[in-house]
Amino acid sequence: MTRESLLVFTPSGRRGRFPDETTLLDAARQLGVDLDSVCGGRGICGRCRVEVMEGDFPKHGIHSEAAHLSPIGPVELDFAQRRGLADGHRLGCTARLRGDLLVDVPAESQVHRQVVRKEALPLELEIDPVITQHYVEVAAPDLADPSSDLRRLLAALEQQWDLTGLDVDPAVLPGLQAALRAGDWKVTAAVSNPHPPVLARSGGVIVSVRPGFQDYAYGVAFDIGSTTVAGHLADLHTGEVLASAGAMNPQIRFGEDLMSRVSYVMMNPGGAADLTAAVRDCINGLIGELVEAAGVERDDVLAMTAVGNPIMHHLFLGFDPIELGGAPFALVTDLAVERRAADLALDLLPSARIYVLPCIAGHVGADAAGMVLAEGPYRRDELTLAVDVGTNAEIVLGNRHRLLAASSPTGPAFEGAQISSGQRAAPGAIERVRIDRTTLEPRIRAIGDRHWSDEPGFSMVPTGICGSGIIEAIAELFLAGIISPDGVIIESDRTARVRRDDRTFSYLLWEGEPDIWITQNDVRAIQLAKAALHAGCKLLMDHMGTTTVDRIRLAGAFGSHIDPLYALVLGLVPDCDLEAVGAAGNAAGTGALMTLLNRDKRAEIEQVVRTIEKVETAVEPRFQEHFVNAMAFPHRIDDYRHLAAEVELPARAEMTGARRGRRGRTG
Ligand code: FES
Repeated sequence: MTRESLLVFTPSGRRGRFPDETTLLDAARQLGVDLDSVCGGRGICGRCRVEVMEGDFPKHGIHSEAAHLSPIGPVELDFAQRRGLADGHRLGCTARLRGDLLVDVPAESQVHRQVVRKEALPLELEIDPVITQHYVEVAAPDLADPSSDLRRLLAALEQQWDLTGLDVDPAVLPGLQAALRAGDWKVTAAVSNPHPPVLARSGGVIVSVRPGFQDYAYGVAFDIGSTTVAGHLADLHTGEVLASAGAMNPQIRFGEDLMSRVSYVMMNPGGAADLTAAVRDCINGLIGELVEAAGVERDDVLAMTAVGNPIMHHLFLGFDPIELGGAPFALVTDLAVERRAADLALDLLPSARIYVLPCIAGHVGADAAGMVLAEGPYRRDELTLAVDVGTNAEIVLGNRHRLLAASSPTGPAFEGAQISSGQRAAPGAIERVRIDRTTLEPRIRAIGDRHWSDEPGFSMVPTGICGSGIIEAIAELFLAGIISPDGVIIESDRTARVRRDDRTFSYLLWEGEPDIWITQNDVRAIQLAKAALHAGCKLLMDHMGTTTVDRIRLAGAFGSHIDPLYALVLGLVPDCDLEAVGAAGNAAGTGALMTLLNRDKRAEIEQVVRTIEKVETAVEPRFQEHFVNAMAFPHRIDDYRHLAAEVELPARAEMTGARRGRRGRTG
């Protein structure tokens, strides 16, 4: 009778008795231990590496010795010579049990490992990508047993990987025979697995067949904003973000804001196709930048995910956005959309898989769904208000019990448009402002310069003021008493910087080429924008039956760069403890990245989106009421005045960190 030995895996703690001569990989599979393999146990990939622990382990009730495994054989020796194998490490697919043993599965050998926090992925995430790689040895054709190359490939995937019910993307077929022969009947098939993962063992689609053993594959995640398009390229195996890039959305030439782009489509036959082509061209260009920055081949990018507001979502997918231009704002679909790169004219392998997150409502898009996934209010007890501030603010309020969403027409003022000296966030734009409460003299800091204007190293010539700068300027003027609570710039004999401008007054923030003024119209534009945002938040709070929220998350390029304190001073969002208000970064893009790296997240957001209750601001009379009430600058001014005196934020470059590649910003 075959002897049985005890085998324990850490860190999972899974254990079982197995007949001697069982490979560690087989035992791991039987116990459901997370041990990777791309080569199917042939000693090629090294993903099954484990560390053998030696000694007494009372916690596990085991005495473990390296000698309780079969000796290192030619396969492991060959691997060690080619790739290296650290002392005490063995290949799980070849090492056979011959006595009680404790083995540790290091993070690099786990399929579902956690990735560490990074700027592009500001949370821990288990890697479980949609695309998996499977090395197979395929039977050569045989006159005595005729069958097609595809049939033999499918048979090999079933026999060697237990993959059944596979489909094959039609774009794979033309190159299939060449790949099989170039690899001498050894190939690596990349399979796009369906989600949820319980279906992973069947029903996938073969998206590429490459000769020999290939264990790398990449994916890209895009946030398609109406102003900026930003993307990340990630290694699908490690989850590492290898490059990030951003560009202005070229659709701007058809209209600055969303509605003017819909108008363009309405007025011009074929206009939607122009806008679709423009955004796809932009994405194709960015993919080129990403693969170049990361030093990878475009054809090895096998998956893409995307988010965008409803109009960007529709235009990217080639849907006519006209219905989104007016009530009742009907979406073509509010389900997640899956396509192939070839279907969307994307310059990737034609079979590359494209996944677009679901929209929430006609005004609340897949970008808001991405924000919800990244911020996860539904995973918390506290009531979270998450706001993605753009030309249309998308607002989500809720916790694990209930989620509400709305959008609010804030207009482009927060992005520097409609502001007399406004400009996009780019070097030279004033982004930080302080005003001395006594002298009423300003200190400013501009993007691209870490020094304040009164410091010796300041060298930037300010060219205008961006969204976060205008918020600070107006909030500081309010705290300094130059702007009244109802938003009027007051004539002052304390400073020569307040000057009459016809029937109103303006404040000279910067004297130079050009002069940069804060005008009464600028204050009004910000008041209108912030009142719309505040009213949308209040409306959701009414529906939730609450007058307070526990935490506020400000997302998007603008939201992430405004100082929470000044957002509270001006009342962009309802009152909340300052410590509970924070920047969420590009939460929409993070959500896209999460669905690229973990297919379970696709099922999760698709399910969560279905539970979100939509609130339509346009038909709610209370929205107007809240809007009017929110025009003034709020109460608690003394709290804020005190806090504002203390606050000194780091320069934007410090806040965002250096990244490879360019990133688009609008804040
Ligand atoms: Fe590939 Fe062991 S499974 S080397």
